Amino acid sequence: MPITLNSIAKQGSNGSAMMPIIQGVGRAAIEISALLRGAVFHGALGAAGAENVQGEQQQKLDILSDEIFLDEMRATGFVCAVGSEEQEELLVIEEYSHANYVVLVDPLDGSSNLDIDGPVGTIFSVVKRKTCITDQPHVSDTLQSGQEVIAAGYVLYGPSTMLVCSVGEGVHGYSFNPASARFELSHPDMRIPASGGYYSVNESNSEDWLDQMGDKLDGMKKESKLGMRYVGSMVADMHRTLLKGGIFLYPADSKNTTGKLRLLYEAIPMGFLMEQAGGKAMSKDIAVLDINPEALHQRVPVYLGSVAYVDLLLK
Ligand code: AHG
Ligand code: MN
Ligand code: MN
Repeated sequence: MPITLNSIAKQGSNGSAMMPIIQGVGRAAIEISALLRGAVFHGALGAAGAENVQGEQQQKLDILSDEIFLDEMRATGFVCAVGSEEQEELLVIEEYSHANYVVLVDPLDGSSNLDIDGPVGTIFSVVKRKTCITDQPHVSDTLQSGQEVIAAGYVLYGPSTMLVCSVGEGVHGYSFNPASARFELSHPDMRIPASGGYYSVNESNSEDWLDQMGDKLDGMKKESKLGMRYVGSMVADMHRTLLKGGIFLYPADSKNTTGKLRLLYEAIPMGFLMEQAGGKAMSKDIAVLDINPEALHQRVPVYLGSVAYVDLLLK
């Protein structure tokens, strides 16, 4: 008998509370993956003509994926609000504004890969609200460090669709089986290899990197002799790093002086997974999970991967 997402209920002390939300992520993933496969036939590729709060061009698929994800979070009945890359403000789910959990999401990550049929993803994390359940959820409910995260994960839309998640008891990968139309456990207890793998970074920015990152990376490359891979889709680059080992980084540069990747729905969920898988996630000299967030769309530098390579880079 294949093991399905229902198995999350038995994982750790938060599994049963998180199962309905992760099942909701699974339903959203199936819909988003169908949307992506059909996009070319339905005129759904290309820019939507609007900019998101980051000042970045929104793709039509960014907006559609965001709607799907929000609908599925609403359908769980356990989520009072969603903080999304595609929404400037916290989105309160009015029907369930008394519910306990807040979800942070990057509905479609790596959207520059859409036009070339490259891999993209969805990234999420779940925290318990701080406000009283009789009050309206507030953006302050999202501003919790990675130490407060109860569950996090990503979906990779590649040759197959995979949901990789953790409720604080290891990282487990579920692959969508088209024959059963379910996610089935395919990668139990994922652990990042201690050595080997690749370094992964947009090296075209190296002239503009801050924090002596050019010199540091050169040093790490010389000592580690790692090969190099870069997709430009954080989910795909993280997934490879988790499976093969190595390091993924997006340093601050003179254009993005605080970094490019978003703390709450990119860095923290991936940092949580990386630590759960035995790796390390740093942001300059502080662990990603120790940063106290100040804003919903805050950006931070990110270095994550096998402990030895992260230490070698930052020594
Ligand atoms: P998004 O598509 O959600 O805006 O995220 C894109 C991010 C991330 O997926 C990736 O690691 C990074 O941007 C790539 O940036 P560059 O194109 O600057 O390398
Ligand atoms: Mn992203
Ligand atoms: Mn995105």
